Amino acid sequence: MLNVKSIRADFPVLQKREIVYFDSACTTLKPKQVLEAVSWYYENSGVCAERSTHALGAELTEKIQRARENILRYFGADNSYCLIFTKNATEAINIVANSFKFGKKKKIIISDREHNSNLVPWLVQKRRGLAITVVPSRKDLEYDIGFFERQLSKSVGLISLVHISNIDGYVLPIREIISDAHRKGIPVMIDAAQSSLHKKPNVSKLDLDFLAFSGHKMCGPSIGGLICKKELLSKISPLVYGGGAVEKSTEKKYVLKSSNSGFEAGLQDYAGIIGLDTACHYLNRIGYKNIEKYERRLDKLLTSGLLETDGLQYVGVSDIRKKVAIVNFRIKGFSSAEVAIILDELYRIAVRSGMHCAHNWYLRNRLQPSVRASLCFYNTKEEVELFLEAVSKTASMIKEKKFSQTKSSIR
Ligand SMILES: Cc1ncc(COP(=O)(O)O)c(C=O)c1O
Repeated sequence: MLNVKSIRADFPVLQKREIVYFDSACTTLKPKQVLEAVSWYYENSGVCAERSTHALGAELTEKIQRARENILRYFGADNSYCLIFTKNATEAINIVANSFKFGKKKKIIISDREHNSNLVPWLVQKRRGLAITVVPSRKDLEYDIGFFERQLSKSVGLISLVHISNIDGYVLPIREIISDAHRKGIPVMIDAAQSSLHKKPNVSKLDLDFLAFSGHKMCGPSIGGLICKKELLSKISPLVYGGGAVEKSTEKKYVLKSSNSGFEAGLQDYAGIIGLDTACHYLNRIGYKNIEKYERRLDKLLTSGLLETDGLQYVGVSDIRKKVAIVNFRIKGFSSAEVAIILDELYRIAVRSGMHCAHNWYLRNRLQPSVRASLCFYNTKEEVELFLEAVSKTASMIKEKKFSQTKSSIR
């Protein structure tokens, strides 16, 4: 079982700042082991990998190689896959969106829940003649698998889909979606930004074609990656070209390296890669099943508590069997920004307000901006109880009278 007290001791921010951090869907906090790994690079190395052959260069090359293998293993990717390091999940998705060779199949299927990072890159490709089919949410806001299945025509070249929604933590039925798609020979990319820590997808078992992830949402540094079937590398091209990524060049032409290296031009974020390797090791040590079990307990308390709170509109899917520990709500009489300010200034609880980079979902489903609280395994039952009390007290305020008083008393 998970020892939360000792886990919390690993996170310096939780020791140094008085805060209840319920914004892990934006980015998770980083444990000291990751910070030490990042510092290790700057204090003990600071050189370039995969090019310099001196002792420090060779040592770093080996470390980066090992990190790449460990991160692939973390995601259950066997050696038919490779890993391209990127700045974040957005860049990983952009590599595919910008270059995927659709051939004669000119259609992509996404969902109405996509984060702007898996919507806008495809909208940009409309100018290449790409047609986009958006699978809507049903009335109960779950994925409409029936609608999806009816869209699987010969013209579909790729499916790109969020695994876990950053809006409300809803887990899309990706296993079913991938097998439906593969039966028709259509490759699938999963946006695993929200799932890589809370409900880790197993790349090989799912037979995924592409997976985009955010290292910074899994306790790692600000880095991301694209995991790709090696056989599909020839179907995509780099976003950035230059040194380290070419086999050879003349003033007339260049030959790109055929592996992931062809996609990693210029000096890479070695500290970030080493930090992410350490984050994977850290998460493996805690144990994925322990994380899932513990977060589910917190989610049960959190979601049922909110559903029982008067004066509140719950937004999104609330069945905890179908979601992770993210909740979304509105308090009647308050804007989402006002609620976030009250929680922050009166209770030191950090949440998010707005449309959570999923404007399309809010607009399609006629929903107002809302408040999101997103948890991680370093949160506690006591924090959830404090949050529920804070939300309940806020919901019982009479907006005009008490909120204006609250604002002046905060100042
Ligand atoms: C579902 C989803 N996809 C993509 C992203 C973008 O991730 P990154 O900031 O790593 O580019 C986010 C970030 O919140 C997200 O929640």
